[in-house]
Amino acid sequence: MRPKLTAISKTDPGTRKTILEINKLRKVFSVNGSFLTVLDCIDFSVKSGEMICILGRSGCGKSTLLKMLAGFLTPSSGEILLNGKPVSDPGTDRCVVFQEDTLFPWLTVQENIAFGLRGRNKDKKGIRKEVDRFLALVGLTEFRDYLPREISGGMKQRVALARVLILKPQILFMDEPFASLDAQTREEMQNLLLSLWEKLSHTIIFVTHDVNEAITLSDRILVMSKNPGRIREDIHVNLARPRKLEKEEFIFFSRKLYEHLCD
Ligand SMILES: Nc1ncnc2c1ncn2[C@@H]1O[C@H](COP(=O)(O)OP(=O)(O)OP(=O)(O)O)[C@@H](O)[C@H]1O
Ligand SMILES: [Mg+2]
Repeated sequence: MRPKLTAISKTDPGTRKTILEINKLRKVFSVNGSFLTVLDCIDFSVKSGEMICILGRSGCGKSTLLKMLAGFLTPSSGEILLNGKPVSDPGTDRCVVFQEDTLFPWLTVQENIAFGLRGRNKDKKGIRKEVDRFLALVGLTEFRDYLPREISGGMKQRVALARVLILKPQILFMDEPFASLDAQTREEMQNLLLSLWEKLSHTIIFVTHDVNEAITLSDRILVMSKNPGRIREDIHVNLARPRKLEKEEFIFFSRKLYEHLCD
């Protein structure tokens, strides 16, 4: 039987509560004296524990959208509500993992992971216990004393993931975090992210321009169009996991998404 591409309505009767609401979001940049509307009429909501992919071609405004949701950029108009409260600044309830390496080069793997816990009223023993747990979760226990320059790109992204998950953010934003990895490492990281998501039940918004990555990871894909960036489709991926690229239903979804991206 052919899988269905299902559009999710905002009134979808789910049991989980809505934690993020985006209403009529718009971003205009001023460039060399003229105005560029990068994002317009962005409207969606996110429920607790959802893993959502934002899929769109290069330049459609994915990073700009994520930066506004994280509080790094101010919208030109519209609102972002986290648990009903407007987001205006970055906050410890939201964390971001970027594509590029953002580890502190002078700190070891375990010090990088522990960094954000400083000043959170935890004693040394408590921090050590948490760091041990997250080192094990991302499979880096044996590399705890290595410096970032002594580990691979994939391992660095594992550290980056552990470093934010340890802070137990309400929402984790990921901006093409695996884009610079080779295909096999990328697949390993996708599997790791899925297993962490299942264990820790975070809400994750993952930006990618890779159709297969979006289908592999998420149960809901927001497809963006360009000039200005808009959410043109809100698609429910009702495929059983693990999702295999070679399966007919995967290929079906992949074709449909390409069509949406190319229109
Ligand atoms: N600070 C800025 N000032 C002016 N224009 C900007 C600024 N940041 C982004 N833009 C423009 O906004 C548009 C969207 O950029 P953005 O980085 O959000 O796209 P993207 O979808 O993340 O692309 P990619 O997939 O290549 O990362 C681009 O045209 C870019 O030039
Ligand atoms: Mg980007």
